[in-house]
Amino acid sequence: MKFDIFETTDYYKIVVNKYKPVIDFSSHNTETKISEIPSILSEYEFEIKNSGDGLQMFFTFEISSHILGLGEKAYGIDRKRKKFLSVNTDPNGYSRNKDPIYLPIPFFVQIFNGKALGVFINYPGELKFDFGVEIYNKTSITSNDRALEIFVFKSRTVHEIVEAYFRLTGKPFLPPEWSIGHTISRYSYYPKNEVIKILDEYAKVAPVEAVYLDIHYMDGYRLFTWNQDIFGDTQNFLEQVHKRGAKIVTIVDPSIKSDQNYKIFREGLGHYIETPNEDIYYQKMWPGDSVFPDFLNLSTRNFWKECVKKWLSQGVDGIWLDMNEPTILTESHLMDGNAIHHLDNGEKIQHSKVRNSYPYYQNMATFEAFKELSKTPFILSRSGYAGIQKFAAVWTGDNIASWDDIKLQISIVTSLSISGVSVTGCDLGGFFGDTPPEMTSAYYRMALFFPIYRNHKIINGNDQEIFLFPSNVRKEIVESIDLRYDFLDYIYSMLYRSHKEGVPSVSPLAYEFPDDNDAYYIEDEYMLGSGLLYAPQIYEGKQSRTVYLPSGTWIDFWNRKIINGPIYINESQKYPIYIKKDSCIVYRKKVMVYGTGRFLLYLSGNEIIINSDGEKVETDSEIHGYSVELTATSPSSHSRS
Ligand code: NOJ
Repeated sequence: MKFDIFETTDYYKIVVNKYKPVIDFSSHNTETKISEIPSILSEYEFEIKNSGDGLQMFFTFEISSHILGLGEKAYGIDRKRKKFLSVNTDPNGYSRNKDPIYLPIPFFVQIFNGKALGVFINYPGELKFDFGVEIYNKTSITSNDRALEIFVFKSRTVHEIVEAYFRLTGKPFLPPEWSIGHTISRYSYYPKNEVIKILDEYAKVAPVEAVYLDIHYMDGYRLFTWNQDIFGDTQNFLEQVHKRGAKIVTIVDPSIKSDQNYKIFREGLGHYIETPNEDIYYQKMWPGDSVFPDFLNLSTRNFWKECVKKWLSQGVDGIWLDMNEPTILTESHLMDGNAIHHLDNGEKIQHSKVRNSYPYYQNMATFEAFKELSKTPFILSRSGYAGIQKFAAVWTGDNIASWDDIKLQISIVTSLSISGVSVTGCDLGGFFGDTPPEMTSAYYRMALFFPIYRNHKIINGNDQEIFLFPSNVRKEIVESIDLRYDFLDYIYSMLYRSHKEGVPSVSPLAYEFPDDNDAYYIEDEYMLGSGLLYAPQIYEGKQSRTVYLPSGTWIDFWNRKIINGPIYINESQKYPIYIKKDSCIVYRKKVMVYGTGRFLLYLSGNEIIINSDGEKVETDSEIHGYSVELTATSPSSHSRS
């Protein structure tokens, strides 16, 4: 086996067997080739050997280490003592411990005793991860090919590693503000009068910033078409929606109906994934026999971009990229691994070696379409790969409604965020399953600070438009939505910070407190930014819960009491929110500074930096209509025990 090692100030890159990356994240970096094995590799007893047609790599870890990362996994946040498969997969609905699902990311961080190791395997084919199952003190990674590249980050703290990973794979896009408000969806809302009616009903109870249209708006599921019978006079429909202050996001699948009478099919000829015999690869999807654009190829991306541009030019505001793992309607949902992609350099490559990069390139082309129209991009994607954060928001797919799913979504969304994907959310109410109104309400409560806040339900599932709910539950959900809007400037500021500085938006407690062993087991609380901790009331029939606050000084947001962590407290507030000392949040047009520090915010379209020395805030007391308040956390406040 041959390998070459390169270094920058951020990482070592080990290129095995002259691998030419399908997604070249490091081409813009100035790298130096080195001949010595870096000491960090010896320290973790890095080993690499041939295994079947692929490779097996090992890193050791201390027995009581913790492991974070790997993107979207339907597990608790610590990956230790578990095995995972990294293949984009539609699981056809999932609950806890189903693996793989839509968006694995081959980046992980091992943490032990204040010291961390960060590794990113840049290989978009199948990878198997074993974190100490077969060998108690080893991470093993097995690939199905002998060529790949491995990034080992030089930093030794979790935060610095994650930030270096962002620098390598890209900082998150900044979503338009409307996309993080309350949004609604259904498989499927139609005809157009029904959509308008639903918006009008919602207007009586709660704000709606966007309606997502699922597959029925299309003409026989042909991409980039409208079914004229139910969405005729589309311009008028779009105008009516816009007049009501809402945006339209349309679903777009990667499958193009194989139909000679369909213009887009004809125009795309020459751009489709092929069989090994150079025929067009086709499979069943919503429209019946379908073909799939080969997004790994630049000319295909240009073809797609033109389709998206035409589509957006009508006044459509956002694109929802579904089924893009890519998924087909067979039992496994997987495309034939021998199907052929054509890379830009003319090389042909098997699907099994590049599968996970498919949604990455589809999102890239879709994103560029927005840019070329000078339209603020908004894409909601189901699948992706490392780096997807540059182009899209991601939702966690077809969750099955349950009380446990409400908790599980916290782990999934926060793990995605610390794996780079900071604009994320889940189907509020749960996609599959009949969700009682109280449970839908718990989803709304749990996801209060998630970047995406969208209600969505399967076809034939129960209706979960909140105006249909009994008034007590409806009021409860409206209260959650109102509270989210009270914090919306803070949520947006944290997405701006993520976009600007390359840091996660939401995170599990363990990310902010990596040296706290207990934090790795706290999966019913999460943070937004490094200063706000939220411990949602998500237990069936209960109005109170235990809250864990890690070490440090916390301020109860509602009564400003000071609480010293680490501590477990019983909390019966409806929305337990705590602010870490030396943080800043925005609530109801007020910037509230607790303690001292320098804080980056984004208010009314402007980047704002707040500086505070504990005595005063170094800014005007009014900025763009926001008042700035130094919220005392004086030692004389009562300590709670
Ligand atoms: C699967 C998606 O995950 C779901 O959200 C959508 O409603 C259906 N496809 C139908 O398009």
